Formats: sequence, structure tokens, C-alpha cells
Amino acid sequence: MLGIYPGTFDPVTNGHLDVIQRGSRFVGRLIVGVLANVEKDPLFSVPERVAMMREAVRNYPNVEVASFDGLLVDFARVKRARVILRGIRAVSDYEYELQMALMNRRLAPEIETIFLMAGEAYSFISSRMVKEVIRLGGAITGLVPPEVESRLRDRYLVHSTQTL
Ligand code: PNS
Repeated sequence: MLGIYPGTFDPVTNGHLDVIQRGSRFVGRLIVGVLANVEKDPLFSVPERVAMMREAVRNYPNVEVASFDGLLVDFARVKRARVILRGIRAVSDYEYELQMALMNRRLAPEIETIFLMAGEAYSFISSRMVKEVIRLGGAITGLVPPEVESRLRDRYLVHSTQTL
């Protein structure tokens, strides 16, 4: 069975990797779908987000990374995926996730959304907060892969010297 794990991944966190690791055990093949999301004005470009994700999942033989644009269900259909995988951290995630899952089911009833509960060690991590913490000088070690941490550092170092 083929699954899609979609997201913006701006950038990938250890919380995402926890879902990928656990999710990849019950599907034959897992495609991580990186959304080329211009609405969210991402910090990292699509090629950067894809490269960081590829680096982070390089030890998972049945996980691959691709970017997509447009509707998730169209991407899933092109890939012939049966399952969309999403992680849920807290009750606050539920409403949005439910809405998305029901919309996707209406658009593509043959594709099932499966939710994994975030591991308790990761349930507070979000890409948005990681970016905020590092931008304001806090430590994010252990929250993102080391490669992502150094890219974030480079990015914000450039930003902060530019604004000086
Ligand atoms: O990491 P995110 O930003 O929570 O991921 C959201 C994502 C990419 C899963 C969602 O925005 C998405 O699927 N976008 C593609 C457009 C789409 O299919 N919209 C209709 C379903 S709500």
C-alpha cells in the first residue's frame, strides 16, 4: 500500500520525522509530499524544503520525497496512493484536520486519511515556533534535524546582519 504524508515542511521538524518513522512501518511505500505553498509565504524555497526532507529521511528505504502543487487528492491520485497520513498533536489541531480530511474524502472517497498521534516528546513542536525561537536567539537543538538547524541559523544570521 502506498501512502502520502503531505505538508508545507517549512522546515521539517523532529515531530514530522516521528510521524514518518512510525507511518512508514505500516505502508509499503511512503511519499512525503512537500506543498509548494505560496500562500503561507514560506521561509525556505521548495527545492530547499525538499532537500532538507531528503536528507532527513535518507535512512528510510521505503520513504521518498516529492513536491506538489494544487489539490492534495490530485497528487495522491497521480501517485496511486490509497492513504493520506497526518499527525495530530493536540485538540487544537483536530478541527482543521477534520475539515481537511472530510473535504479530501468528498473529493476522493477512495482515499482514506489516517491520523497518527504525535509522540509526547514532540507534541509541542511546530515549524512556526521553531523559526520564532531561533530567530529570537533561543536553542532548538533536538527539535529539528542538525542539517535543518544549521540552515535556519544561516538564514537568520543573514537576516539579522541585513537588518543591522
Ligand atoms: O503542513 P501543513 O501546512 O499543515 O499542510 C497542509 C497541507 C499541505 C496538507 C494542505 O494545505 C493541503 O493539502 N494543501 C493542498 C491544497 C488542497 O488540497 N486543499 C484542499 C484540501 S483542504
